[in-house]
Amino acid sequence: MCGIVGMVGQNQVAALLVDALKRLEYRGYDSAGIATISDGQLGRRRAEGKLVNLETRLKAEPLAGTVGIGHTRWATHGAPTERNAHPHFCNGVAVVHNGIIENFAPLRAELIAKGAEFHSQTDTEVVAQLLAAYRAEGLAPREAMQAMLSRVEGAYALAVLFEDQPEMILGARSGPPLAVGHGKGEMFLGSDAIALAPFTDKITYLDDGDWAVITPHSLEIYDQSGAPAERQSQITQGATYVVDKGNHRHFMEKEIHEQSEVISHTLSNYIDFAEGRVRLDSAQLDFTNLDRLAMSACGTAYYAGLIGKCWFERFARLPVEIDVASEFRYREMPLPGRMAALFISQSGETADTLASLRYCRDNKLAIGAVVNVRESTIAREADAVFPTLAGPEIGVASTKAFTCQLSVLAALAMVAGRQRGELPEAEERAMVQALIEAPRLFNEVIRKIEPQIEALSRDLARFKDVLYLGRGTSFAMALEGALKLKEISYIHAEAYAAGELKHGPIALIDENMPVIVIAPHDRHFEKTMSNMQEVAARGGQIVLITDEAGAAAAPLETMATIVLPVVNEIVTPILHALPVQLIAYHTAVFMGTDVDQPRNLAKSVTVE
Ligand code: M6R
Repeated sequence: MCGIVGMVGQNQVAALLVDALKRLEYRGYDSAGIATISDGQLGRRRAEGKLVNLETRLKAEPLAGTVGIGHTRWATHGAPTERNAHPHFCNGVAVVHNGIIENFAPLRAELIAKGAEFHSQTDTEVVAQLLAAYRAEGLAPREAMQAMLSRVEGAYALAVLFEDQPEMILGARSGPPLAVGHGKGEMFLGSDAIALAPFTDKITYLDDGDWAVITPHSLEIYDQSGAPAERQSQITQGATYVVDKGNHRHFMEKEIHEQSEVISHTLSNYIDFAEGRVRLDSAQLDFTNLDRLAMSACGTAYYAGLIGKCWFERFARLPVEIDVASEFRYREMPLPGRMAALFISQSGETADTLASLRYCRDNKLAIGAVVNVRESTIAREADAVFPTLAGPEIGVASTKAFTCQLSVLAALAMVAGRQRGELPEAEERAMVQALIEAPRLFNEVIRKIEPQIEALSRDLARFKDVLYLGRGTSFAMALEGALKLKEISYIHAEAYAAGELKHGPIALIDENMPVIVIAPHDRHFEKTMSNMQEVAARGGQIVLITDEAGAAAAPLETMATIVLPVVNEIVTPILHALPVQLIAYHTAVFMGTDVDQPRNLAKSVTVE
């Protein structure tokens, strides 16, 4: 979950490397560093913390060179100190790495036994040490690279400089992605195409197990066995994306406000607006004769999946087996009968989700993927890709990707319902009409509720713990609300199915425990209201998120009641995401945390 870049050409690269790293900072921001070769000598600058610290260092101590590599780190092995920051050097070799070298401990012990001296606590340094050792034995750069790759196990994207090869960068990937960018008289390496967008839109993705040699005018790719390999280049959309905050204070705020537009854009892929029905041609997976659907994802994408499960089961009568990907991949789940699998991921690179996908593929299931990054590994390995058209999501807290995932899952559940003859046409038309109107409602609702939520958040910021409750799809939304609040405000938050309250968590309720109840006026409403009464009877402070019908029927005084319009049940979770996101955002802003880059987190989780 680090970001890596490399550049070789005619221009001075230090500032360009930093520019590319800025576009990768979403992958980690514990430390950053770059290395270049100038006058036949490797040089590097590294700094703890965010890129801005590296920029300051470079202003004071500039670095020359027309070839270089760079890194922004999310720490796995070793504290986020300058000493552990990449690039790691060893006798004329410089390495940056994204991933984990799983067998680093025995390799390190072996190298130390042979006299190597290590300067960091990282797993990455064994790569530099191994390469240097092979070069010292007389191996040429390519041979040393292949020898090193045959020794390391785990997940890696690597970029390597050799001091005696000032016009060459070597790259390798096993697991995390690595893109090669083609320029005119210059070549680039990057963890994704967005990092390279200011320089080129012509990209070649390395396949898993590939390694590559780039010079200003050439690209050689070798597969795992060391045989030369051909990989197609493609023109990406990365360059068209503008990665800035516009008039907003944070990317998260911008992304919350963009939802009306991106949901509309996403829906246009799945809905025939003229016909008022879902587009069957958007279903590259045939749900007709399935006995079961397996679903998996992580974090917010998993909560989108939980809501999707409710929809597939209700509108298509298709049973869904769902689990978080870190459990799914190791469950050795039997996959009997007619099954397909669906994976959900914003980045398309989440290691556990990818491993779960591969488990299902090895078991011969048809694979669908709901992904935001079209060129991602998950998208490339799926049989059918269902894109969310949310554009780049930069804030670590997922917002617009979530509501776009819900939009796609809603459309797919309707397609499945239609294919299986379980969804009457009139019901489908009503749901499609409601989805078409959802983006407009988003804008209206945001204008109406944001000032109220901003005021409420000041109150919430006083508390140490917050409980979220809901039933049905609103239980999944409660889980999402608790995740959002804790990840960016650092307030401890938990979510429970409202009916579970009396089985234990009710013991926590007192006047110091605000309870956010998500209860639209649906078939669960009365039951959730009873649970809310139980909370009120014990002094809990209630924030009720409901719709106009629910507000009219709610029996109690609350700390705040956030009222949304009454909508078709397929739109309810999409709309209810808004207050949940805004509560987390404004509470975090009020508490002064780093909203877009909360501590200890990274946007793309490419390690287990
Ligand atoms: O890129 P993915 O959708 O696969 O990422 C999954 C989770 O890591 C992600 O949703 C994470 O939970 C977010 N920080 C939540 O806001």
